[in-house]
Order: sequence, then structure tokens, then C-alpha cells
Amino acid sequence: MAVEVLRDYSLAPEQVPLVASTRPTESERKAMRKRIGEELRRQKMVLVAHYYVDGELQELAEETGGCVADSLEMARFGRDHEAQKLIVAGVRFMGETAKILSPEKQVYMPTLAAECSLDLGCPPDAFEAFIGQHPDRTVVVYANTSARVKALSDWVVTSSCALEIVSALKARGERILWAPDKHLGRYIQAQTQADMLLWSGACVVHEEFKAAALADLRKVHPHAALLVHPESPAEVIAQADVVGSTSAIIKGARELPNETFIVATDRGIFHQLRRQNPNKQFIEAPTAGDGATCRSCAHCPWMAMNELQNLERLLLDDSIRGRNEVHVDPAIGQRAKLPLDRMLEFQR
Ligand code: 13P
Ligand code: SF4
Repeated sequence: MAVEVLRDYSLAPEQVPLVASTRPTESERKAMRKRIGEELRRQKMVLVAHYYVDGELQELAEETGGCVADSLEMARFGRDHEAQKLIVAGVRFMGETAKILSPEKQVYMPTLAAECSLDLGCPPDAFEAFIGQHPDRTVVVYANTSARVKALSDWVVTSSCALEIVSALKARGERILWAPDKHLGRYIQAQTQADMLLWSGACVVHEEFKAAALADLRKVHPHAALLVHPESPAEVIAQADVVGSTSAIIKGARELPNETFIVATDRGIFHQLRRQNPNKQFIEAPTAGDGATCRSCAHCPWMAMNELQNLERLLLDDSIRGRNEVHVDPAIGQRAKLPLDRMLEFQR
């Protein structure tokens, strides 16, 4: 089977923002949470949060009738909820997906600066040219892409459904053009043996997990199960007991009998892991190798831009809300909705 990887679209270090935040005091945070809850109710808004954002935002989403979920469930929840105003706490592709699926709703984000290295590493013009060179292939793109890239695709997938969808396409004899995550693409290719031509993007968080240091850590914790998100390098995935989306990782932690887990994904997920499994121990997979090269803290800088402070400002200040509304060009949105609908339909 063909596996071909093209020019490298990983981000240079200077393209990744440094996010410094000042954490309000306990009593300030308590007061903010109360005001945010009241405003969400008063303005009939629903908060849809990803597992990687600040734990207090996750709790607020749950307490106020919103949801905290993986990227697939966020899309479904936003589409199906009766509220006409959504606040998406996550990264921009998640806000855009909500808007594409429900163009009649108003979708806001605490900050529109919350990007994703996979989205940034797949410029639509270059991707369109790439597709043009391979007109015989079915275009499958990861949800972590812009609306324009989705509009160029046949299928959108998330890590929750990519394996099943690619297996079904392979069974139909289709050859695939995959973008943007090369690690997830390689993993799916290895699992399905599908003919996949891979774009060469990467997640700046997951790419930092180090296989050798992980093997050493496993010797220290021989009874720990290893839970890995498939955006990680192949050598890290190869050691895993569970490979899957954020919700698959949470399920694995709940269902496996182990008392200790090593987790290779963004550290925001530890909030749910610890809350749901108070008697289990969770350890971060190492991002530092033997050399002094570590630039990661297993924490997505764009997810970290979602804070209580900017969520509260969004709710209290009309002009900020005006600036932070997610807009998608209607023609692009209409085209991008086709592969998204296909994904959600496939999952039913
Ligand atoms: P999930 O679809 O597993 O929630 O992952 C989204 C993501 O951005 C992972 O880095
Ligand atoms: Fe994108 Fe990686 Fe952040 Fe997920 S963790 S939003 S893939 S940069």
C-alpha cells in the first residue's frame, strides 16, 4: 500500500504563542463563576467546552446545562441543542464547526485567537493545489482544519471515528488523500492498510512526547496502563494500551482495572480523569528527552487561551461579543457542511 509523505508543514517554534496568564484568587474565581452562570442563563446561552480547557470552564459547562466533550461530541451537541446562542470554549476549528452545522445560530468564543497547529499547517490554497494533483483520491480531512479546507473535502473525521470511516472507504476500493496530521494518518494507515497519501502537518503538543523516556517511565511504573492520543508519534503509539480520542482515553481510564495510568495527551484532560477516578493515579507522559531540547509542557497554548476572565468579558461586554462572534462565509460553510454531515450521519 502506498504511504507517501510530502513537504513538512509542521510549525516553527516562533509560530507557537507563549500564553502567560494571571490566575485570579480563589474568591475572585468563585464570584466570576457565579456571574458567568447567571449571565449564561439570562442570555439563554449554552457553553460547549473541550476536555483540554481549564477545569473550571469544564465544570461551568456541566453545571449550566452545556457540555464538556471531545471534538465530535461538541459538534453534535452544538448542532442538536435548542439554544440559539453557543459559546465554544476550545479552539477555532471547533467554533467554526458549530457555526457550519448551525448557520442560523450565533456562535461565540472567549477568544478567536485560539488556533491549532494542524489548522495553521494546512493552508487552503496549497491544499487545493495538492488535491488538484490527485483528482482520483477521496479527500479525508481531520476536523482540526479551517472551514475552507473542510469545504475542499469529501469527508471530515475526528479521532473518534477516523478508523471506522477510513476502513469503510477502503472496503469500497477508494484511495485516500489525508490531511493534515501525519501521525494520525500513519496510525490509521497502519491499522486499516488503506492506500493513503498524507499531508505532513503535526500537533505541537502531541509531537513532543518522547518514546525512549516513556519506555523508561514505564519501567518505574510497570503496572501502569498507557493511554495515548493518536496525534502522537508512532513510537509512542506503539507502546500504548489504549489509543484513541480524548473520550476514548477517559473511557479507558474508567474501564481498565489498573490503578495507575500514564497519559500521552494534553494535560487539560487530567481534570476529568481525576474527577471521574478519585482513587486512581494519573501521570503525564514525558515530553523531555535526554537532551535539553524540551519546549513542551503537554499543554496546548491555544486551548490555554480560554479563561474565566475572557469568558466573563464576553458575556458582560456587547462590543467584545461583537468581535468574538464566529463567522464563516455562507458559501464555504454550505460546502463544508456536506462532509461534516456525512461524518455525523456515518456515526449514527
Ligand atoms: P479529540 O477529537 O480527541 O477531542 O481531539 C481534539 C484535539 O484537538 C486533540 O489534540
Ligand atoms: Fe491543535 Fe494540538 Fe492544540 Fe489539539 S492539542 S488543538 S491538535 S494544537
